[in-house]
Amino acid sequence: MTIEKMMEFLNQPNVHIGDPDHVKHVIEQLIQYGPDKLQIVADFDRTLTKYIHKGHVCATCHNVLEEGSLPEFYKEEARTLRDTYFPIETNPKLSIEEKIPKMIEWWTKSHGLLETCEISRDSIQHCVSSSTAKLRDGCSWFFDELKKYEVPVLIFSAGIGDIIEEVIKQQSTMHDNMHIVSNYMKFNEEGKMTGFQQAIIHIYNKNENAIHDSDYFQNIEHRTSMILMGDSLGDLHMADGAEVDHKLKIGFLNSRVEESLELYKKKYDIVLVEDETLDIPNNLLRSIL
Ligand code: TMP
Repeated sequence: MTIEKMMEFLNQPNVHIGDPDHVKHVIEQLIQYGPDKLQIVADFDRTLTKYIHKGHVCATCHNVLEEGSLPEFYKEEARTLRDTYFPIETNPKLSIEEKIPKMIEWWTKSHGLLETCEISRDSIQHCVSSSTAKLRDGCSWFFDELKKYEVPVLIFSAGIGDIIEEVIKQQSTMHDNMHIVSNYMKFNEEGKMTGFQQAIIHIYNKNENAIHDSDYFQNIEHRTSMILMGDSLGDLHMADGAEVDHKLKIGFLNSRVEESLELYKKKYDIVLVEDETLDIPNNLLRSIL
């Protein structure tokens, strides 16, 4: 697809672009440098997965456990926590600084609660298969195509790594060019969950965690083009450790659209509103790969 065709394709009612000239320029660069220079950084919940499917809100990684066979007290508590903290997460009137302590509170309480549930490693497969978590339409094509061209994909998530792996395994393919950084559960010898392996990754510390202490970005520093995909403003910092020349930021705005659109348009290059597919990133890849 030529750049003109691509820009035409972006001219859809659910696609919002603050600075079309900038977007055109970056896409031109991504096309020019091609797959050998490309890397992808993507959030998981509500970025690679759907927010809504057939009129119902889909599960995040944490919700997968909530929907699963965990005790009733957990489900009630987890719901109460979500009802308290999700509106704070998505409130465009609060600053990130105001949100951070609340998000730390949410993740700390939520993970503390999970630790009391004696989750068995074996139950995860069933929790995922019976859950409402769904990869976006076109996600398998996205993964397969990036594997075909050996483009590294970093999935950086404040969700739960064990759940992410299982969702991808069940609904698509986990290829060896894909790397997940997330909260991974710790299990004892009996296969019961006892906690998490590392310090909490919540939506606003994706810039200072695991990946930035590792040599991930250094090892692929010759890849100077990046497509970054996220759904929260915290996701914009997922690649702070990478020095790239051309970065296209695609944001999925799933809820509180009217209040948040202007802010998202300032922060993301392309904002996709109420789009449950990966059609736009996939079309871009058709031009670049
Ligand atoms: P993400 O980094 O993959 O987007 O994952 C974070 C999402 O998980 C964020 O939208 C909030 C959500 N979440 C829950 O649904 N339940 C929980 O208990 C916690 C801690 C987070």
